[in-house]
Amino acid sequence: MSKLLTVFGATGLQGGSVIKYILGHPELSKVFRLRGVTRDVFKASAQTLREKGVEMVQANLNDPPLLIKAVSGSDSVYAMTNCLYPFLPASAAIEIAQGKAVADACVAAGVPQIIWSTLPNTTLMSKGEVRGAEHFDSKAEVEEYIRTLDIKSTFFMAGWLMQNNLGRSKPQFVSPGKYTWWWINLDPDTRIPLMDMRDVGKFISPALLDPELYDKKRLTCATRYYTLQEIADTWTKVTGKNVRLTQSAPSAWPVALQKRLQEMRGLYSVYAYFGPTGPTDLDWTLEQVTEKPTSWEQFVQDHEPWFEA
Ligand SMILES: NC(=O)c1ccc[n+]([C@@H]2O[C@H](COP(=O)([O-])OP(=O)(O)OC[C@H]3O[C@@H](n4cnc5c(N)ncnc54)[C@H](OP(=O)(O)O)[C@@H]3O)[C@@H](O)[C@H]2O)c1
Repeated sequence: MSKLLTVFGATGLQGGSVIKYILGHPELSKVFRLRGVTRDVFKASAQTLREKGVEMVQANLNDPPLLIKAVSGSDSVYAMTNCLYPFLPASAAIEIAQGKAVADACVAAGVPQIIWSTLPNTTLMSKGEVRGAEHFDSKAEVEEYIRTLDIKSTFFMAGWLMQNNLGRSKPQFVSPGKYTWWWINLDPDTRIPLMDMRDVGKFISPALLDPELYDKKRLTCATRYYTLQEIADTWTKVTGKNVRLTQSAPSAWPVALQKRLQEMRGLYSVYAYFGPTGPTDLDWTLEQVTEKPTSWEQFVQDHEPWFEA
């Protein structure tokens, strides 16, 4: 284990997925030792990672001086931010500051490679037509900043997460055997790129193994594009329950959030999330990876049981 990979968000879904993948990989686990960053090294999830051999260090993305120490000695840093807007307003500036701070820390500490978790710049892509996706644009702004720095950089861009459907977006019970899956008023043929967050390691490992080859490259990450209808139909096929696409939002969804998603509608209906170059970029990325990403059908099977009645 000659190289050190430091992972931000180690206790969360995305960073945790990177760590799990490396630990379980017969070759990568021999190449990389792991350091995980958390704000609280005493929390249970941090302790669990430590028991698995991950060095856990305390740092906060809002505290730049601590970040240099957290990344020191790393060969690669997986950097991500988690500002939960549109749930919390006005945090684009915070996310941009956090992303730039972690990149600056990597440069200051002489880290050779950063992998930044980015998203498309929706305002640029749509010439201002798509609004409400500040949490995309802020990550894209950090990406642009990193491209100017003296460090090898690769950009991991996740599609719409299959895991969203385990939480707030889970189909709602209507009557025994019948469920509805809500999407903002989009045509059932609208295509979205779906990604299983368990697959982050599959997508970034080529860049980890060859930072030079993937320098300044963007990995457009999804299994493939699925239509909304196909997503609903897959639940029906796998679970045996009738899952129907609906345009009526579940009552639990806050009205402000529904409005925000309506604003973002064009990102899906016109720009299919990744934008016009998405299909070509996705094909290129899939040519780079050696392991097949998880299909939506497989994800649904893996997460049974979905429904009680
Ligand atoms: N949902 C989607 O479809 C989708 C698609 C693409 C991208 N994304 C992006 O994915 C991100 C969320 O990732 P996730 O699902 O992995 O989140 P998550 O499971 O909620 O985990 C968040 C992680 O961030 C860490 N963290 C939060 N604030 C921090 C701070 N100030 N300093 C240091 N660490 C901090 C937390 O660590 P501790 O609590 O241990 O400190 C935790 O490990 C968001 O930025 C979102 O925009 C989502």
